[in-house]
Amino acid sequence: MLHSIQMSLNRTNRITGLLLDVPDDGRALHERLTAAIRAAVLAGRLGPGDALPPSRALAEELGCSRWVVNEAYVQLVAEGHLTARQGSGTRVAPDAPDVPTRPVVPPSRASARAPSPVVADLRPGAPDVARFPAAAWNRAMHHVLTAGGGADVFPPPGGVQRLREVVSGYLGRTRGVAVSPEEVVVTCGTTHAVGLLAGVLARRSASRLAVEDPGWSRLGDAAAHAGLAVEPVAVDGEGVDVGRLRRTGADAVLCSPAHQFPTGAALSAERRRALLAWAAERSAVVLEDDYDAEFRYDRKPIGALAALDRDNVAYLGSVSKTLHPGLRMGWMVPPAHLRDPVVEALERSGAGPGVFDQLALARLIGTGDYDRHLRRARTLYRERREAVLAALYGHAVIRDAGPVEGIAAGLHLVLSLPPAHDDRDVADRLERRGVAVMPLSSYTRRRLRPALVIGYGRLSPSRAPFAAAEIAAALESGARR
Ligand SMILES: Cc1ncc(COP(=O)(O)O)c(C=O)c1O
Repeated sequence: MLHSIQMSLNRTNRITGLLLDVPDDGRALHERLTAAIRAAVLAGRLGPGDALPPSRALAEELGCSRWVVNEAYVQLVAEGHLTARQGSGTRVAPDAPDVPTRPVVPPSRASARAPSPVVADLRPGAPDVARFPAAAWNRAMHHVLTAGGGADVFPPPGGVQRLREVVSGYLGRTRGVAVSPEEVVVTCGTTHAVGLLAGVLARRSASRLAVEDPGWSRLGDAAAHAGLAVEPVAVDGEGVDVGRLRRTGADAVLCSPAHQFPTGAALSAERRRALLAWAAERSAVVLEDDYDAEFRYDRKPIGALAALDRDNVAYLGSVSKTLHPGLRMGWMVPPAHLRDPVVEALERSGAGPGVFDQLALARLIGTGDYDRHLRRARTLYRERREAVLAALYGHAVIRDAGPVEGIAAGLHLVLSLPPAHDDRDVADRLERRGVAVMPLSSYTRRRLRPALVIGYGRLSPSRAPFAAAEIAAALESGARR
């Protein structure tokens, strides 16, 4: 019996689908199983929130008693690697201080070397998807599915009417953009919207789209794929440089006026006027990427550009920062003369969010659950911002490097590095220590001051001191450029 237990314990996954190596090293079975699960968690093969099999199933698979499995689970719960809750079983702890998330390599910095497990993920971009309002979404979806909401077999090309109604109300209320439901076009998010608009503009003989530098290249890539040449325009502390924009001869510009990505600059009042004047003179289109306007902490609300000019501004928003980027849902309000071509392009592409998701989002917004979620999320992210700032400023090497920028809004900040450092080297060194950040230079073709772009949306306050200490250590030990 002992022999067969040991044989089958070498490897699992016949019944549970869980792949564990449990080599026979002479220790007691429960200790070996404990070590095997711990190793899987630390290596990121089991990620935060992953469910462990019920003890009965794992015991059956291993050919051992349930006691062995229970002992292992109890030990790992005590260590903080697992959590056990009535009703949801045993899972990998979402936020244990030393549990790495799955190893991921940012696409722009992918290297041949095997990625290190990410212990603290400070890459900007995503919100904390663990805070997705699952119960409210479930209620909304349940309502849709039981109220016969999917009666339209195909969603209308511009989006389901109810969603366009609540989005028009939301934009008026929160962004000062007064639009009718008919003017709203439902999209699969901002990347989708940029691709659609760029395609329409290219077919109307536009050739050049100016994009912010530094900026998020994925949107420029979508426009290039749709046929526009992409021309970077420098951004400074007041947002995009309109003087330089004028010199590009571009037919359209993509910018993030409320909170420039990644610098965090807000487009100044003077620049706003200049930008709109430029657009009116050239009949150019301003693609307004309003990607994180919901998260504003200690500055006055900045209305959308589209509130000032509906003729030349195409407003773009999505739920990627507020709910979950995987939902692939957003909206745009194109200038009136582009609405029909955009909707036609949408229809021809056959792409758009499903009718159930659209109706569930409409319900979430319409019941007030979306606003309630945003209020909670704002508090959560403000706390995370405070925690990361306090932790960073606790280190002289960081304090002395200059002010932390872009902190008034959003989910990320820009940390200046001492001038002698190369931000890519610092980011690489941090990555090897399990701390994932993005160097500012990965968002630009220019030579900018060295800085790190740090997303704090997914960084729990308990892990902030660790991340800050690692950043400080990387700077203190750092290679110079
Ligand atoms: C600068 C910027 N714009 C827009 C988006 C949203 O893009 P999408 O709606 O396609 O997910 C993001 C998301 O990460 C972003 O960082």
